[in-house]
Amino acid sequence: LKKLQKKICDEGIVLSDSVLKVDSFINHQMDPKLMFEIGQEFVQRFEGKSITKVLTIESSGIAPAIMAALQLEVPLIFARKKKSLTLKDNVYTSKVYSFTKQEENEITVSKEFLEPNDKVLVIDDFLANGQAALGLIEIIKQANAEVSGIGIVIEKSFQNGGDKLRNLGYQVESLAQVSSLKNGEVQFLSQKLEEVTA
Ligand code: G4P
Repeated sequence: LKKLQKKICDEGIVLSDSVLKVDSFINHQMDPKLMFEIGQEFVQRFEGKSITKVLTIESSGIAPAIMAALQLEVPLIFARKKKSLTLKDNVYTSKVYSFTKQEENEITVSKEFLEPNDKVLVIDDFLANGQAALGLIEIIKQANAEVSGIGIVIEKSFQNGGDKLRNLGYQVESLAQVSSLKNGEVQFLSQKLEEVTA
């Protein structure tokens, strides 16, 4: 998605060799039109997969996931990271360790919303080490449902999450693949920066 790559070039801030700040259009302020197009692109890339549910994790995964779900005309479920007052019993849970944040979260999804015949598309904003996606896959497995694929807005392909998931046989579709953040510069896997900004 060229528009996404351009937005990353124009507004992304490289905080370190491994962290990209995209607070102006994904993680804090959001760009609804771009999000809609992101949803559209996911629908195209997973065409023919007969998806029945979209699954993400709160909070930043929700926007791209709801846009995909809207256009697929299926429900979106977001796994909760915080303990919920209303969601305690009859739940699937999985532990997700974040290397970036060095913290562990237990994620929760009600058993009510995932059924054995569901074909589930996993969506998230970032793919780094793959722990969030693996946690969601674990929950889909607990429900005996099927993983239809994994849609990611920004994959940091210099970290190992993408390889891990692809080696497990999943279709992973990342709309921007960042290959390096070295020297304060964003490099993409498939396209040179000059081509994107031209
Ligand atoms: P992983 O799931 O692929 O292993 O990723 P990791 O644990 O490294 O990421 C944990 C959190 O940090 C996730 O957000 C993820 O979206 C975010 N993250 C990882 N790398 C980057 C980055 O380079 N830039 C930005 N902006 N975020 C990054 P989270 O804790 O679930 O937060 P949120 O969804 O509530 O915003």
